[in-house]
Formats: sequence, C-alpha cells, structure tokens
Amino acid sequence: MCDAAMDEEHRSLFLAVEELRHSVLAGHSRETVGVQAGRLSGRFAAHFRNEERSMRASRYGGITWHEKQHQRGRGLLKALQNAVSGKGGETVHQALDALAGWMLNHVNVSDRMFGAYFRNYERERTVEV
Ligand SMILES: [Fe+2]
Ligand SMILES: [Fe+2]
Repeated sequence: MCDAAMDEEHRSLFLAVEELRHSVLAGHSRETVGVQAGRLSGRFAAHFRNEERSMRASRYGGITWHEKQHQRGRGLLKALQNAVSGKGGETVHQALDALAGWMLNHVNVSDRMFGAYFRNYERERTVEV
C-alpha cells in the first residue's frame, strides 16, 4: 500500500464514521445503523490488515506497538456494535466519539510515523536498483 492510498483510506474511513453519526442523529432504525456499523467494522478491518501487511513487508520496527493500537481500535469497533445492539453500558454516541477520538489520534501520530518510515523505505528501494 502506498502512502497516498493510506491517506485515501483514512479520508474515506473518517467520512464513513461521520455518515454513521448522521444516520444515528437522523433517527434511522437500529437495523439500518447496525448494518452500517457492520460495514464500517469490515472496512476498518481491511484497512488495519493493509497497513500491517505493508509494515511486515517493509520490516517496520514499530509494528508490535502499532498492532497493539489496532487491537484497541478493533475493541472500540466491537463496543460500537454492542452499543448499536443495546448491549454494554455505552450509548452509540459515546461509542462513536470514542472511536472517532482514537482514530484521530492514531492517524495523526502512529500512522504518520509509519508513513514517514514507509516513504523512506520506498525511496531507498528505488535508489538501490
Ligand atoms: Fe491507518
Ligand atoms: Fe494504523
């Protein structure tokens, strides 16, 4: 995955989180919101896998730390799905806020760190040839 593709996935994930928030605010049924939340989790899962694959391919030293953060993100997505189904003590708004807050921080710090490393890795690989 190249750096631009990673940025594009982040943009589209941020949009999807906001769409879900609008859907909740608009009072859409639990079923509709549940389908949307399931789809969002699937997209996050694919995104985490893509990043982790690029980290392994480029032998990124911070992978263990980064993967732990993705685990936290997966936990927040699970909490969101629980909130949508009325399980757990959180409202959907609270779960969405927690997910959005985590994501903002993760993308701005950890993903940027990996992005910088990956750009260098790609550059060196091109120069070596
Ligand atoms: Fe990311
Ligand atoms: Fe990440």
